[in-house]
Amino acid sequence: MNLEALLADRLAAPLAAVAGFPVDPVVRRSQHADFQSAAALALAKRTGRPPWAIATDVAAAASAHLAGLATVRVSRPGFLNVTVDDAVLASAVDDLDDRLGVPPAARPERVVIDYSAPNAAKEMQIGHLRSTIIGDALAQLLGWLGHDVVRANHLGDWGTPFGMLIEHMVELGHDRARHSLGDLTGFYRVARAKFDSDEDFRVRARRRVVALQSGDELSRTLWTQLVEQTERNFLDTYARLGVTLTGGDFVGESFYQERLASVVDDLAARGLLVESEGALCVFPDGFTGRDGEPLPLIVRKSDGGFGYAATDLAAVRHRAGDLKADRLLYVVGAPQRTHFRMVFAVARAAGWLPAAVTAEHIEFGSILGDDGKAFRTRAGDNVRLDDLLDEADSRASSAAVGIGAIKYADLAGDRRSDYVFDWDRMLASTGNTGPYLQYACARIRSIFRRGASEPGPVVLAEPAERRLALALLGFEPAVTAAADLREPHRLAGYLHDLAVAFSAFYETCPVLRSDGATRASRLTLADRTARTLGLGLGLLGIDIPGEM
Ligand code: ARG
Repeated sequence: MNLEALLADRLAAPLAAVAGFPVDPVVRRSQHADFQSAAALALAKRTGRPPWAIATDVAAAASAHLAGLATVRVSRPGFLNVTVDDAVLASAVDDLDDRLGVPPAARPERVVIDYSAPNAAKEMQIGHLRSTIIGDALAQLLGWLGHDVVRANHLGDWGTPFGMLIEHMVELGHDRARHSLGDLTGFYRVARAKFDSDEDFRVRARRRVVALQSGDELSRTLWTQLVEQTERNFLDTYARLGVTLTGGDFVGESFYQERLASVVDDLAARGLLVESEGALCVFPDGFTGRDGEPLPLIVRKSDGGFGYAATDLAAVRHRAGDLKADRLLYVVGAPQRTHFRMVFAVARAAGWLPAAVTAEHIEFGSILGDDGKAFRTRAGDNVRLDDLLDEADSRASSAAVGIGAIKYADLAGDRRSDYVFDWDRMLASTGNTGPYLQYACARIRSIFRRGASEPGPVVLAEPAERRLALALLGFEPAVTAAADLREPHRLAGYLHDLAVAFSAFYETCPVLRSDGATRASRLTLADRTARTLGLGLGLLGIDIPGEM
């Protein structure tokens, strides 16, 4: 149940009656009452009437509309403070079903979520961690709400580095190449060193790119081996991370290669292509560089090759056109903001993104070290994700706690902000952390292992019981905000508030040491809390360990 919406609905008529025109009640949770509306203050600004007088009139008119649900009181200078009837709260908590009051989406959409997207032939770096965690949380959240989620792992599996890598495989010979692929980072490093130091090798590597792109059989076979090996590595990492991406979700850059020529044709037919210094470009409206010059999106480079932008154009066209998506989400770091704005603008101009289809760049900030700079190893290298997960295993009491801590730390803040990667803080058992929430949930579950008697109807006597009931009924608005704004921290912050409300309740209201109707009611409150925490953390991709 969404109490905010229900109260706003009941307050709309009395507000309109006093104002003489429709007014949005904007009902919010508040420290001072269960809920508060500042509509009378806004109305006072508009009409010049004193806020107190307006609020008093609205409160008088509202009491009939709120009968059986809530009471309203005016507070200075003109707030409407709303207190929900205990009986309403109690029965709403009783009635919470398996979905904890969250109905499936009224209008389900097909949503393509582009996330994780590491680059083949390299091991996954910390740079892909946030996309993987945030993307997977959004995929689970939107899927649970009833949307038809298509996971798109836009693997970087094409382009000039593959010439060098395949040429290196050719030189190693079949057996040794297969063997060295086991250590992809080492393999990449050796190939790179050869490329940098050996002119002949460089020439052969460039020829190899051309061979690969023109379908040469050996090059193709070796490329396939290389990509399959990296996909296996990534799937291992996803399994360790408890991420829902599967092998079937890889739709790498290579997939779009045969579609690029027709992307160029489409753009040409629309008159959007401009030749500039030998390259084919589109200059979408409203994009200028630092010098005020129009900014090009390069579709085909002067050497005839296609780059990152062309592939993304083909991907938009495929997702909106062939996959019939209603919504495209790209969970990619903030530095690619201009890239995506331009890609979306060009796709709209080309007619591939009809007005009914939404495209959004779900951007996020960086992970920093404690020096405030990009997070790196002590030696200054990129942090390998597998090393990070090894460290999580060794620092935490179990994999679920270590992974949960990493994921929660990533999801708990506004995704647009940078954050400092700090093991001690993310693993702390108090504060807004994964372990704190996992522990809260596990502790409540253990009440049920110890207690025999059945939960029963909720009766609200103590203030802490009432606050817990109110908190429980906040799940739906939190889930809705997280999904609509694509901001998992809305859900994370809610779950933390709920755990805090439970802990205040648990301190003042004995559960197993009470009896009769009180005990039954408290067991229901505890049950709903455990279920809400379990479901909410699950939607964020965080497991609850059985014992902590
Ligand atoms: N592989 C890219 C990188 O590592 C991310 C791809 C994001 N998705 C996309 N459709 N461009 O930066």
